Amino acid sequence: MKGIVLAGGSGTRLHPMTLAASKQLLPVYDKPMIYYPLTVLMLAGIQDILIISTPEDLPQFRRLLGDGAALGMRFSYAEQPRPEGIAQAFLIADAWLAGAPCALVLGDNLIFGEHLSTSFRAAATRPDGATVFAYQVRDPERYGVAVFDKSGRVTDIIEKPQDPPSPWAVIGLYFYDARVTEFARSVKPSLRGELEITDLNRLYMEDGSLQVERLGRGCAWLDAGTPDSLLQAGAFVQTIQSRQGLLVGCPEEVAFRMGFIDCATLRAHAKRLGKTELGRLLHDLADGVHA
Ligand code: G1P
Repeated sequence: MKGIVLAGGSGTRLHPMTLAASKQLLPVYDKPMIYYPLTVLMLAGIQDILIISTPEDLPQFRRLLGDGAALGMRFSYAEQPRPEGIAQAFLIADAWLAGAPCALVLGDNLIFGEHLSTSFRAAATRPDGATVFAYQVRDPERYGVAVFDKSGRVTDIIEKPQDPPSPWAVIGLYFYDARVTEFARSVKPSLRGELEITDLNRLYMEDGSLQVERLGRGCAWLDAGTPDSLLQAGAFVQTIQSRQGLLVGCPEEVAFRMGFIDCATLRAHAKRLGKTELGRLLHDLADGVHA
């Protein structure tokens, strides 16, 4: 399976912070925001990743991430000239995908929880259909919302409903089979002029092949799209890392744990990070302090 990180948009809810910088490059505590969704795809076992951003911001992502070889990854880049919807990512990626199944993660989503990587790997290896995840929130009207019947099957999925029929928001991580570009081509622009990811998910739902997994209370899903949620996300990462000494959203650590790089390469990354706490924690990992 291949993966896409969508890091476009103009980040208007974070102005003036995003007037001269990409939202997905803003710091979430000690790392650029894009590291968090990127590591989610890596934890799903995906090594071939396309980063999609605006023509202005794409060079900065290239500078940060390069071709991915140092992480045992392959990074490619593509432009989304205008913010015309999340589902457009699959049309942009069509040639690169070359018929492969694909996961998509939004560049401002932070997803954290024990056992989640097992769910992600299962979703990535599911041969047919689509898998998405839902998370209970107090403000579902801001998101795509999933409705379930008594047996837990999804019966409806609605984008930003004024009067939400359930508290279950669909998070910004989606796994699709090889039909995704074909389905994406039949999505029509919504009233706000975007190719909505919710409409793509509805096509899979109508096909009877959409699986919506509900994430429980032991998981954290944060989007860092407003000043408050950006601060909350940073505080969350800081709390976990300083308390446990375990890293959140660190590509070098995940690459090592997933077996994409060896111990010597991990040490080289730790050295490059110099005297930072991040560098120290990576040294500890290489030394085997943390199991
Ligand atoms: C987008 C999707 C929405 C999803 C959300 C997750 O919303 O349209 O369905 O729940 O991402 O972050 P947007 O970021 O465009 O407001």
